[in-house]
Amino acid sequence: MNIIFLGPPGAGKGTQSRFLEKRYGVIQISTGDMLRSEVARDSDIGKQVKALMDSGKLVSDHLIIAMIKNRIAQKDCQNGFILDGFPRTEAQAEALDQLLVSEGKKIDAVLFLNVDEDILADRVSGRFTCAVCGKIYNDISNPPRVKGVCDACGSHEFQRRADDKRETVVERLKEYHRSTAPILSFYKKKGCLYTVNGMLPEADVTAEIEAFLKIK
Ligand code: AP5
Repeated sequence: MNIIFLGPPGAGKGTQSRFLEKRYGVIQISTGDMLRSEVARDSDIGKQVKALMDSGKLVSDHLIIAMIKNRIAQKDCQNGFILDGFPRTEAQAEALDQLLVSEGKKIDAVLFLNVDEDILADRVSGRFTCAVCGKIYNDISNPPRVKGVCDACGSHEFQRRADDKRETVVERLKEYHRSTAPILSFYKKKGCLYTVNGMLPEADVTAEIEAFLKIK
């Protein structure tokens, strides 16, 4: 099963794709996480993308497409993958198509998490993650069961993203409308786009996705 999650910043792509990864044993590929790990390692790629990411701009198609090409070719993706944060532009969507055709693969479903824009800034600015296992939390909607302790791994270390400041979220939303929203029609034309109500509580969003995947 090969799935793409689409949606604006804070729509819940990471939350839902991580859940599906655990549930179905299919690899989640987050281009944002891959880039953040390059920045954390201060690699050449990290140095190249840090300022762009911190300001809410997209990094170059060329770099991202090369990263995805390498990642999808790895053995753990042979049973399928869930793309979170890619594709983000028409050039990326087209490159993905060509890549999959050349490997005899296809996308089974594109899940668009639909969330009203006025909710997104609160979601993003309230987000924090476990520094050890990456579990995603929210100050308001999804705090850990025990304050300061990760539900999943028991760690006491948490982190916030540099680009989750309210002013940067405005720029990320502009990028989303400019570059990413247009690819919804690309997948609609292919007949594989499914819109999910991303404004429901997390568990209900998951249930809607699972119900859809069962009938696929
Ligand atoms: P990336 O990391 O991909 O960020 P994003 O797309 O902006 O998405 P987010 O991670 O902010 O949100 P999400 O939808 O995953 O929401 P989440 O589940 O965390 O990209 C970061 C940057 O990297 C980009 O700006 C760009 O610079 C670069 N980049 C990455 N990919 C690229 C590409 N392909 N091309 C070019 N550049 C690229 O949830 C958010 C919060 O809401 C959490 O606190 C969560 O607990 C809460 N929440 C989730 N679901 C619900 C719910 N149903 N109800 C209430 N709260 C909820």
